[in-house]
Amino acid sequence: MRLDKILNIKYPFIQGGMANISKGKFASDVSNAGGLGLIGTGGMDEEDLKKEIAIAKENTDKLFGVNLLLLNPEIDRLVDLVISEDIKFITTGAGNPGKFMKRFKERGIIVFPIVSNTSLAIRMERLGADGIIVEGEEAAGHIGELSTMVLLPEVATKVKIPVIAAGGIASGRQIFAAEVLGASGIQFGTSMLFTEECPIHENYKNRLLQAKSSNVTVIGTTNGYRTRVLKNKMARKYLNLEREEGNKLELEKLTLGALKKAVFNGDMEEGSIMAGEVVGTLDKIYKIEELFQKFYGDYERIKKSYEKSE
Ligand SMILES: Cc1cc2nc3c(=O)[nH]c(=O)nc-3n(C[C@H](O)[C@H](O)[C@H](O)COP(=O)(O)O)c2cc1C
Repeated sequence: MRLDKILNIKYPFIQGGMANISKGKFASDVSNAGGLGLIGTGGMDEEDLKKEIAIAKENTDKLFGVNLLLLNPEIDRLVDLVISEDIKFITTGAGNPGKFMKRFKERGIIVFPIVSNTSLAIRMERLGADGIIVEGEEAAGHIGELSTMVLLPEVATKVKIPVIAAGGIASGRQIFAAEVLGASGIQFGTSMLFTEECPIHENYKNRLLQAKSSNVTVIGTTNGYRTRVLKNKMARKYLNLEREEGNKLELEKLTLGALKKAVFNGDMEEGSIMAGEVVGTLDKIYKIEELFQKFYGDYERIKKSYEKSE
């Protein structure tokens, strides 16, 4: 694990960008707890992001970053903003950050693109990325098609820059396994929802606490927008429509605003309850700091026990 050394933070842990959830307050709470918090820009415009960056700066003097979704129609303005706001760390998703890379590099911004296949990781390294976040399909939210178990060691042997593992990790044992497979740090999503500070509706947290790994499913396979969620009325309707080859507009209508319904209204039937395969791993709500201590402590203990037995 080296990410903590590279970024001069306490733990080699990144809280992945989460649209509508990881805004300025939560991201800075994560940074204050010793990880690297990211403001997720999904659905945000320039004004929204400016406000959230101000909140984060107010709440912490520690390093925090911004997760840029390159599909966002506002992306050019968001990039201008992160540069003018002197943001030091960026992750990019849903596309190729090539056209912005020169400006990021000139400003000394650390860029870790998120990838779900090896060829994109190699291209990102050539473009000048400082590290790669490899996200396996075990993860919550929009996903690729390869598992962390396969993708992580493949990328780690093909690139020289640090590789961060995301997807399917929510315990010390899994953190140690990711290190063995080549990871320099971990990006968490699902487990960050199991924290007191996480600003999702209580119904969402209660639902997560009851959930098992077998309760997740993937919607959006037919329209190229695979998304891992908990099974509920919305997901069942979506999957039925997909089976009947329902038109894309109907599918779009079903998911439109569905994450907001779950996050803000606590609607556990019509909302999109994004969660990864590790949803059954944690059985209580932690303070962020307590969760990081547990993850790191368990990781160190397990690692030592393996070293001793060698
Ligand atoms: C509720 C939720 C929303 C997410 N939204 C985003 C997002 O907007 N952008 C993104 O790059 N990743 C998003 N993710 C993925 C996380 O950043 C992270 O990479 C992933 O959850 C890690 O896998 P895990 O869930 O198994 O820990 C989201 C995850 C969750 C749980």
